[in-house]
Amino acid sequence: MELYIILLCISIVFLLFKPLFHRSKTLNLPPGPTGLPIIGSIHRLGAHPNQSLSELAEIHGPIMSLRLGSVTVVVLSSPDMAKKILQTHAQSFSDRPIPDAIASMPNLEASLVWGPSDDNRWRKLRGMCSTQLFSAQKLNSLQHLRYQKVEQLIEHIRKHCLSGSQVNIGQVVFATTLNLIFSTMFSMDIVDPEFSTAEEFKELVWKIVESAGKPNLSDYFPVLKRFDLQGVRKNARLPYDRMHEIFDEMIGKRMEARASDPATRNGDFLDVLLDQWEENGSVINRETIKPLIQNLFIAGSETSATTTEWAMAELLRNPEVMQKAREELMNVIGSERTVKESDMDELPYLQAVVKETLRLHPAAPLLLPYKARNDVEICGYTIPKGTHALVNIWAINRDPKYWDHPLTFCPDRFIGSKIDYKDGSYEFIPFGAGRRLCLGLPLATRMVHLMLASMILSFDWKLPQGINPQELDMQEKFGMTLKKAVPLYAIPVMR
Ligand code: HEM
Repeated sequence: MELYIILLCISIVFLLFKPLFHRSKTLNLPPGPTGLPIIGSIHRLGAHPNQSLSELAEIHGPIMSLRLGSVTVVVLSSPDMAKKILQTHAQSFSDRPIPDAIASMPNLEASLVWGPSDDNRWRKLRGMCSTQLFSAQKLNSLQHLRYQKVEQLIEHIRKHCLSGSQVNIGQVVFATTLNLIFSTMFSMDIVDPEFSTAEEFKELVWKIVESAGKPNLSDYFPVLKRFDLQGVRKNARLPYDRMHEIFDEMIGKRMEARASDPATRNGDFLDVLLDQWEENGSVINRETIKPLIQNLFIAGSETSATTTEWAMAELLRNPEVMQKAREELMNVIGSERTVKESDMDELPYLQAVVKETLRLHPAAPLLLPYKARNDVEICGYTIPKGTHALVNIWAINRDPKYWDHPLTFCPDRFIGSKIDYKDGSYEFIPFGAGRRLCLGLPLATRMVHLMLASMILSFDWKLPQGINPQELDMQEKFGMTLKKAVPLYAIPVMR
C-alpha cells in the first residue's frame, strides 16, 4: 500500500512539474536564431530556404535548431552532422514528417517515400523495388525502350535545328523523363513525341510537384491542418485522384491481357509488380501498386529533368567544359552511332559533369525531411522526439572547407577522385544516404547521362542572340526540387 502511495506522489509531482522538465529539455536544443512569438523563424526562410539556412548555419553552426511555427527543426550543415542523422542515429531518423499537400494522396500509408520505415510492408516494398525493379539486370533488359524515347527527343530537337528555333530545354527533358519512366514502367509513351505542352499526364505531375513545393501554414502549425486554410491539400487531391484513375486503367488493361494470354509479358515494371502480386504473402496488390508507381513518377521525373537542365546550362555557360565533354563523346562513340547506357563507363568526364552539376545544383537541396522517432542525444544536445531534421546538402556542397573554389563549375575535381554517390563520404550525397537513399538512383543516373550525352553528341549548341555565356541567369527557384528560375532556352545547330 505504501509503495502505491509513493508511486502516486511521484506521478503527481511529475505531472505538476512536467512543463519544467519539458522546458529544461528544450533548453538543451542546439543553438539557433531566436524566433518571433508564434511564427518563430518562418520569416527568415524567404524565397530560398536553402540559402537562408546556409547563412544562419554560418552564425549558429553545423547543427542548429529553429522553430518554424509550432514545429522544431534541426538543420545539419556539415558532412559530420549529416552522418550523425543518416548513419549513427539512422534508426531514430528514418521516418518522415508528411507535408499536408502530400496527405491528399490516396493510400498514403502504402507510400515508399512517406511511409514509416519500421513498417513491415514498407521494408518489403523497398527491398522488392531494389532487387526486382532497379537491379542492373532489369534496367538493362528495358534499355531499348529508353533508347527509343531519347531518339524521339533528338528527332524533335532536329526539327528545331532545321527551323533555326530555340528549344526550351527544361520542357523537352521533363517530357522525355516522363516518357523514359513511363516506358520503363508500362512499355509505352504517355507524352506525345512532339512534346506539346497540354498533355494531361504532364500537367498532373506538374500540379502535384507544384503543390508539394508551396509553403503551407498547415505544415508550420499542424493544429491548422484540418482547416487547410490555403486549400493546398484540396487542390492536390484532384490530380492525385486522376493519376490513380489512369494507373487503374493501365493495370486493368494489363491484367486483362495477361488473363486472356498467360504468356503475355512485356517484362516491364508493371509485369514485375503483377508477378509479385500473384505470389503468396506479397505486399503488392492493386491498392499498393498505385501509390508505388505514383511515388516513382513524382520522385523521379522533376529531379532528373531539373538535373539535366542545370547540366546543359552549366555547359553553355562554360564552353570549354562543353568542348571537353564533346571530345570525349566523339572519341568514345563517334558520329556513326547513338549513345548507349553501356558507354557510360568509358565516359568519366561526362560522369564528372553530372556530379559537378549535382554538387552545385542538387535537385533536393535539403534532402527529404526526417522526423525524430524518439529523443536523441547529438553532440551533447537533446533533439526531442518529433523534431524535424533537414540536411542542407546545398550548404555542404558549397562549403570551402570541403571544396576548392566551391562556386566554380569544375568537373575535373571529380576526375581521379574516389567521391561517388554511394561511397559513404558525406560531403557529397545528392541522392541522400543510408536506409532512405534515393531508390531510383540507378535509373536516374542512366537517364540523365543518356539524355545529356545524346544532346551534346548530336548537336552544337548556342545561346539565343544577345545572351553571353557569362550572363546566363543561374538563379534558383526553391520548391519540391531546386529548379532553374528562368527556363533555359538554347539553339541547336546541326553538326
Ligand atoms: C537526378 C535525379 C534524382 C535525384 C537527385 C534524387 C534525389 C533523391 C533524394 C535526395 C532523396 C531523399 C533521400 C533522403 O532523404 O536521404 C530521394 C528519395 C527517393 N527517390 Fe530519388 N532522386 C532522383 C531520381 C529518382 C528516380 C528516377 C526515382 C524513381 C523512378 C527516384 C525515386 C526515389 C524514391 C522512391 C525516394 C524515396 C526513398 C525513401 O524515402 O525511402 N528518384 N531521391
